[in-house]
Amino acid sequence: MESVVFLLFFLLQVSGSAHGRCFCQVTGELDDCTCDVETIDSFNNEQIFPRLLPLLESHYFRFYKVNLNKPCPFWTADSHCGLRDCAVKPCSPNEVPEGIRSAPHNKYSAEANKQPLTECEKEKHLGAVDVSLSEKTREALLEWRKHDDKAERFCVIDDEESPDSQYVDLLLNPERYTGYKGPEAWQIWNSIYEENCFKPFTVKRPLMPSSFQSSSGSEARTFYSWLEGQCVEKRAFYRLISGLHASINVHLSARYLLDDTWFQRKWGHNVSEFRQRFDSDLTAGEGPKRLRNLYFLYLIELRALAKVLPFFSQPSFQLYTGRPEEDQKYKELLLEILNLAKSFPLHFDETSLFAGDEKEAAQLKEDIRLAFLNISRIMDCVGCFKCRVWGKVQTQGLGTALKILFSERQIEALPQSTEQRPSFQLNRQEVVSLLNAFGRISTSIRELKTFRSLLAEER
Ligand SMILES: *[C@@H]1O[C@H](CO)[C@@H](O)[C@H](O)[C@H]1NC(C)=O
Ligand SMILES: *[C@@H]1O[C@H](CO)[C@@H](O)[C@H](O)[C@H]1NC(C)=O
Repeated sequence: MESVVFLLFFLLQVSGSAHGRCFCQVTGELDDCTCDVETIDSFNNEQIFPRLLPLLESHYFRFYKVNLNKPCPFWTADSHCGLRDCAVKPCSPNEVPEGIRSAPHNKYSAEANKQPLTECEKEKHLGAVDVSLSEKTREALLEWRKHDDKAERFCVIDDEESPDSQYVDLLLNPERYTGYKGPEAWQIWNSIYEENCFKPFTVKRPLMPSSFQSSSGSEARTFYSWLEGQCVEKRAFYRLISGLHASINVHLSARYLLDDTWFQRKWGHNVSEFRQRFDSDLTAGEGPKRLRNLYFLYLIELRALAKVLPFFSQPSFQLYTGRPEEDQKYKELLLEILNLAKSFPLHFDETSLFAGDEKEAAQLKEDIRLAFLNISRIMDCVGCFKCRVWGKVQTQGLGTALKILFSERQIEALPQSTEQRPSFQLNRQEVVSLLNAFGRISTSIRELKTFRSLLAEER
């Protein structure tokens, strides 16, 4: 009897606590896949994540070329903190004196000391992209370009060819809280979900109680029964987008601007922000579903990495930066990670995803490709530049993962000799975004561990 009472007490405690409310459904098996969350956690946190970090810090992976000057093709950004007012004109490295470049926030702090920043200025500083590159790096990048251009292209990403494109050092511009939220940020996600996820307008998507329009429980039920009726790939598409959204929110909660004074800026975990986004009570049950979608996204990208191994194993493939020893070392590390991904036992049922009859699959591939292309154009509407960079990295990375999953046959048919035209190709931009996007998701899974223990402490 005593033990039953104890057990009951324990159960009540668990489901009543914030820890239980964020993670209660984030355990056990995932839908559409024979995987469980606990196995993914330990696989990621102990094996993948520690190897991915040094890889992404390497010269090959830290520089991402992006065009931040494209106008939003769908609407005019008209909020007071919109593109025009808050735009940060990126400087070329030689425009910026070394001293300011190395300590950008001393400058802001001195200003902040004199006069409190307006909300708009704050956003501008936090969302600014640091485009400083050392002279040496710039020379090396010019070299790569020559090298890259020699390789045969399968697809050209216009961003890379545009004179407006420039390299951004991802390590100097970490994804973190920027103060970019409110109606403008909401519009981005809303148009992605509403206009680009195959959802008819008549079916309302369940929203957080705190968002601009609240929804009722019956709408959520209608939505999920609509989703269940979709083919597995379109259902997957929705969950991938939702997982991406969740991942970004995990990052913003994990690198929240906790302290912003004239002498320091401190980013760190904000448990209350995390709960706002993921506690089932505070999100009408949506938070834990979103976290499950994050795991789903992780598995899809992991699977793409496993499938693309033959491409990267080709002797002709190089992570070219002009330093042969380093290039070789990081290629080995990359292959080690891909082999690990391949060894992960709980992948999807091979026959159920991206494997319908050939004609149907081709149509589906086209639908999803177009939806993805459109979503990457929506990224040009993101008002905050830093968010825009990371939005582009992550959508492009996921797009590349889908391209891989839909190209299984072509990858298997890759020629062994260099004479034949390869049936499958990835350019540097795609390689960099694929691994950096996966790095974000891997980091999110790792951050969930931290939030789990922070929430457990709160009890
Ligand atoms: C692309 O996205 C925009 C903005 O959400 C939407 O208005 C448009 O219909 C979409 N186009 C296609 C071809 O899906
Ligand atoms: C944490 O986030 C909440 C919003 O969810 C905010 O009100 C609070 O000030 C933040 N805490 C810190 C220490 O910044």
